[in-house]
Amino acid sequence: MRIVLLGAPGSGKGTQAQRLMAEYGIPQISTGDLLRQAVASGSELGLKAKAAMDKGELVADSVVIGMIRARITEQDAQAGFIFDGFPRNLAQASALDDLLDDIGKPLASAVLMDVDHGVLLKRLSGRRTCKACDKVANVHQPDFDARELCEVTGQPHDYFQRTDDNEETIAKRLEVYAAQTEPLVEYYHRQGKLVSVDADGGIDEVYGRLVSAIETLERDGIATAMTVEIDAPDP
Ligand code: AP5
Ligand code: MG
Repeated sequence: MRIVLLGAPGSGKGTQAQRLMAEYGIPQISTGDLLRQAVASGSELGLKAKAAMDKGELVADSVVIGMIRARITEQDAQAGFIFDGFPRNLAQASALDDLLDDIGKPLASAVLMDVDHGVLLKRLSGRRTCKACDKVANVHQPDFDARELCEVTGQPHDYFQRTDDNEETIAKRLEVYAAQTEPLVEYYHRQGKLVSVDADGGIDEVYGRLVSAIETLERDGIATAMTVEIDAPDP
């Protein structure tokens, strides 16, 4: 299975990719996570990336495409992968098509996680990540428990808020998504690869819809999956 999870900041790409990874045994490849690792390492690339990320802008295409080129050749990616947060503009989508053509493993589908704007803001403002185990939680979830124990430290999770989850940067990220990433909906629709999933609702509910769309896709091919789950993109 080779899919792109496409969706606005806060649409649940990371949350669902983690679950899909556990279910299907293929890696989640998140350019956001790879870039945050580069920032944490203090490398030169990380420093450059941080400047763009803190402003809510995209990091240079050459940087992220280089990361993806290296990542897809790793052993764990040979049976497939779930891209999360990549590609993010037309140049990246086209570069990805070229990379995958070169290795004879084209993308099966781009799955759009469709959520209303107001829901995104609430999810992003409530997101918390544990410093030790990387668990992503949300203070607005009814089952959020600040006393839950971390599997790494045995102590309550040491939650922090991502530095780009502040009001100003969230607004910029949503603007960048609308201007640069949303055109990919049309791009993949034209390729006959777009599947749209309603990503509003509880995490389990959305996961059920995603799995159903992916299994239809795997079993019957894209045409049937689209008739089952697609919401046609706005013209
Ligand atoms: P990135 O890390 O990719 O961030 P993003 O696209 O803004 O997406 P998020 O991670 O914020 O949202 P998500 O959809 O993963 O939601 P999540 O599952 O966490 O990118 C960050 C930055 O890196 C970019 O701004 C850019 O600078 C740079 N970058 C990254 N990739 C790049 C690229 N390809 N090119 C150039 N630059 C790049 O969920 C959010 C919250 O909601 C969580 O708290 C979660 O628990 C909760 N939640 C999830 N699903 C549900 C649900 N169904 N119900 C209730 N709560 C839910
Ligand atoms: Mg994410």
